[in-house]
Amino acid sequence: MVKSKMTEPVGTPFVKWAGGKRQLLEELVKRVPNSYARYIEPFVGGGALFFALAPKRAILIDLNAELINLYRVVKEQPRELMKEVEKHRNEEEYYYSLRSLDRTAEFAELSEVERASRFLYLNKTGYNGLWRVNSRGENNVPFGRYKNPTIADPVKMTASSTALASSILLCGDFSEVEHAARANDFVYLDPPYHPLSETSGLTGYSSGGFSAEDQIRLRDLALRLTERGVKVMLSNSNTPFILKLYSRFNVDRVNAKRTINCKGAKRGAVSELIIRNY
Ligand SMILES: C[S@@+](CC[C@H](N)C(=O)[O-])C[C@H]1O[C@@H](n2cnc3c(N)ncnc32)[C@H](O)[C@@H]1O
Repeated sequence: MVKSKMTEPVGTPFVKWAGGKRQLLEELVKRVPNSYARYIEPFVGGGALFFALAPKRAILIDLNAELINLYRVVKEQPRELMKEVEKHRNEEEYYYSLRSLDRTAEFAELSEVERASRFLYLNKTGYNGLWRVNSRGENNVPFGRYKNPTIADPVKMTASSTALASSILLCGDFSEVEHAARANDFVYLDPPYHPLSETSGLTGYSSGGFSAEDQIRLRDLALRLTERGVKVMLSNSNTPFILKLYSRFNVDRVNAKRTINCKGAKRGAVSELIIRNY
């Protein structure tokens, strides 16, 4: 059990997310600095560590515009969102009609609450809880055939809304951190992992993948933040490429169970890296 720093989580992740950090949470929480000014997470995804820590002041960033819209709506209009979510049905034909909205002009007319509710519905009823889009940014996840999925739990949603109350939410590239972070802030970086092999990478977080050049760009940012006195923790896969990139940092190898993976045979414990500049 995680003890310190994780007493009463005031919220929980409300999306299922590829690369979600629930399996690694305990190891991450143990390594969080004892004190810091603000919490900054530029690849927020499901936000497992953010909700576990429930920091008073946070900046959360992600490149996925629909995901950040959902965070904003959970923060500002949780009741309206819950009302909208109740309208959905877990039926195949209904699923595909809602999924196909982003292929029509109608999509631009949806309100923020309607878009957030669609996102939650597709995330909870789509296959494997993935959010995957094609090169045109259109969702292409098949219907998941779950018996009785919970799309949103009102009690948990209210708690998550409270946890987000004083957070700043930004849609954009991780480089936004450069402007935002100041000395003594804590930045947690959880980029799409560098693939263990050419074919094993989890892709489709947003249009376009996360390349080796992006990994280098991120490491360079971590070095600049270090010079400014910002505390940085990063998780990534245990590969020679990542080990070489972060050779000047403190590197721990930890075991994590991976659950979102198309090939069942590849599920199980794998070694991952937790990298820190402190
Ligand atoms: C490994 S996931 C983060 C998982 C998250 N920590 C959790 O607990 O669910 C990576 C996230 O980075 C986002 N992302 C991908 N490329 C990005 C970029 N260049 N800048 C910011 N976010 C990006 C994806 O949309 C995705 O949500």
